[in-house]
Amino acid sequence: MKSARAFLILITAVIFLISLQVESLAQNQVNTCIECHLELDDELLDPAIKFAEDVHNKEGISCAGCHGGDPTEEDAELAMSEKNGFRAVPSIREIPQFCGQCHSDPAYMRKYNPALPTDQLGKYWTSQHGQKIKQGDKNVAQCISCHSVHDIRKTSDPRSPVYDLNVPQTCSSCHSDADYMASYPIATDQHADYQESVHGIALLKHKDTGAPACNDCHGNHAATPPGVASIGRVCYQCHLAEGELFNVSPHKTAFDDLGEAECSSCHGNHSIRPLTDEQVGVGDESLCATCHSEDDAGYEAAKAMKQALVDLSETYMEARELIDEAERKGVGVSDEQFALLDVRHSLINVRKLVHAFNPDTLISSAERAMEAADEVHQAGISAVVEVKNRRKGFILFTLVTIVLMALVIVKIKQIERDKVK
Ligand code: HEC
Ligand code: HEC
Ligand code: HEC
Ligand code: HEC
Ligand code: HEC
Ligand code: HEC
Ligand code: HEC
Ligand code: HEC
Ligand code: HEC
Repeated sequence: MKSARAFLILITAVIFLISLQVESLAQNQVNTCIECHLELDDELLDPAIKFAEDVHNKEGISCAGCHGGDPTEEDAELAMSEKNGFRAVPSIREIPQFCGQCHSDPAYMRKYNPALPTDQLGKYWTSQHGQKIKQGDKNVAQCISCHSVHDIRKTSDPRSPVYDLNVPQTCSSCHSDADYMASYPIATDQHADYQESVHGIALLKHKDTGAPACNDCHGNHAATPPGVASIGRVCYQCHLAEGELFNVSPHKTAFDDLGEAECSSCHGNHSIRPLTDEQVGVGDESLCATCHSEDDAGYEAAKAMKQALVDLSETYMEARELIDEAERKGVGVSDEQFALLDVRHSLINVRKLVHAFNPDTLISSAERAMEAADEVHQAGISAVVEVKNRRKGFILFTLVTIVLMALVIVKIKQIERDKVK
């Protein structure tokens, strides 16, 4: 009885081991597509070499996943026969559909990664790229112009051409090439402008991936110009506070009526620069004076808003200088430094309030911030007075010490002289 049970266990174990072996054989099965193409040259060889790094390869989708054919056949003709479903190389125009056969099939994609969107093809057709390719234009971007082919990587892979930091370069490989774009009516300066902008500097120089690359404003797959009506929405994604203020400001309806773009009419799109209070007011650098002229309500508002901003920022700067000076000279000013930080935050918030385009809103906040700024300013003055008093005290102390020491020396000499006598 015991030996019968042992035999049963042995048999089960053997069957289990054999099944494992069979499975691993299936997995290690040679892929004739790769094997044969590794023996070939140039563009027939390249795909087989590059494919080691491809996301599809890593997911177990081999050459046949895209090209069809039978990857177990050693004979070239059989492996690549139409009977076995082989699809030769897709033309540029066919590529979107070729990639989309899987990527726009939610049931299929869910098996691999339920979180991955399946809207790329649908969105692509709505883009200027997709519209033009349908008309037979071969210069516009399709899937592999942005993602490459045979070494396609996850978008989160820093080596992917669509990884955040690489997107501007990928788009500009066409859009900054004046010869390539010669037959189109659009400029080729977007990248040049972008890389000098606050966004370009933040992303490309400081590697701040919170700053927008081309696709954050234009969409990954629906690359159309955002259009006047939707530009605001593009900026709101990140600059919510300014967007909310703008939406209830008098400019909202005024700009809609004029057909003016909400944010970019003042800030531009690719060459957005840092701003100063000068751009509020009515002076040479003013953004307001381009539309408002003397005596209209906007002009007066601009003047008043700028004055409030300048007063606040000057008081803040002076307070900062005083407190920094006191700190350098050794006076403890940590409380004042904290208070100063609060004033700085208020100043930033008051600058945002420009976007309410309502002088009362801005000025009342500026006045509240000004009270705090004045307090810090006073504290700064006291700290500097303390520095001066300390210095006076020190000089007095040194003088007294010197006089005392001189007296002591005179006294010692006198004693010595008395001894000699
Ligand atoms: C025994 C060698 C061999 C095998 C196996 C093989 N190929 Fe090829 N493949 C070739 C040669 C040679 C060419 C170029 C001549 C031609 O087009 O037939 C080629 C061409 C191609 C092309 C380009 C076709 C074109 O029209 O330019 C693709 C795509 C391709 N192979 C994919 C595959 C896939 C996928 C498999 C596996 C299912 C595979 N190959 C298996 C030898 C092979
Ligand atoms: C994700 C889909 C996909 C996979 C997987 C894939 N290919 Fe391709 N392949 C394409 C596309 C798209 C083209 C067209 C490229 C072009 O127009 O430049 C292409 C083109 C080719 C060509 C023509 C030469 C060239 O580079 O344009 C060959 C040969 C080829 N593939 C072989 C292979 C082999 C071998 C494998 C496996 C090692 C493979 N492909 C895997 C999509 C794929
Ligand atoms: C104009 C360039 C461009 C074109 C054309 C393009 N893509 Fe993309 N693709 C991107 C960018 C940029 C991302 C997003 C990278 C990120 O999320 O940071 C992306 C992301 C993806 C992703 C990851 C999931 C997602 O949606 O974020 C897939 C899958 C994808 N693309 C497939 C395709 C397919 C299929 C096509 C052709 C129908 C295509 N792409 C055409 C630029 C492009
Ligand atoms: C046979 C089906 C199939 C075809 C055809 C196909 N893909 Fe994929 N692709 C997949 C699967 C499955 C994944 C893995 C999804 C995952 O795990 O995130 C994937 C992943 C990707 C990713 C990475 C997405 C990420 O996670 O960041 C990109 C980019 C991509 N494919 C682009 C393409 C392009 C471009 C083509 C056409 C040249 C193409 N695919 C053709 C099935 C396919
Ligand atoms: C393979 C070259 C190529 C690549 C790569 C490319 N584009 Fe394009 N793009 C074009 C061409 C060509 C047009 C058509 C221009 C036209 O119709 O006036 C175009 C049109 C556009 C338009 C519409 C412009 C208009 O006003 O008509 C936008 C926006 C755009 N591309 C953004 C992008 C972005 C963003 C990227 C990168 C994510 C990108 N493109 C990558 C070639 C490319
Ligand atoms: C901060 C958002 C933003 C970023 C980042 C951005 N764009 Fe734009 N882009 C816009 C806006 C807004 C327009 C103007 C749309 C209009 O006037 O209808 C535009 C217009 C365009 C156009 C249409 C032609 C033109 O010059 O007017 C192209 C092409 C374009 N951008 C490409 C790019 C490329 C390439 C990059 C990356 C180097 C990029 N954009 C980065 C917002 C952005
Ligand atoms: C993906 C997020 C994102 C989008 C979309 C975006 N921005 Fe920005 N923006 C940022 C970040 C992050 C910074 C800060 C950059 C830095 O560190 O200097 C910034 C900075 C700015 C600044 C300068 C602020 C300063 O302190 O001087 C202005 C102005 C600006 N953006 C306007 C816009 C406009 C207008 C749009 C729409 C056309 C837009 N942004 C779209 C993220 C975004
Ligand atoms: C009528 C012109 C005008 C419009 C429209 C406008 N801004 Fe501004 N924006 C300014 C001025 C002027 C400043 C500088 C304020 C300062 O530094 O005193 C500024 C500053 C900014 C800053 C820098 C940080 C800050 O708030 O001080 C950001 C970010 C910004 N704007 C985003 C936007 C967004 C997003 C929109 C669209 C909802 C928009 N702006 C619409 C004129 C405008
Ligand atoms: C693109 C043109 C344009 C620019 C630039 C512009 N405005 Fe205006 N603004 C208008 C229009 C149009 C109206 C509504 C009609 C009117 O009252 O003049 C308006 C209205 C206003 C109002 C409401 C006036 C009232 O009647 O109560 C204020 C306040 C204002 N703007 C302030 C500013 C400030 C501050 C700036 C600069 C930061 C600025 N505007 C820049 C076009 C502009």
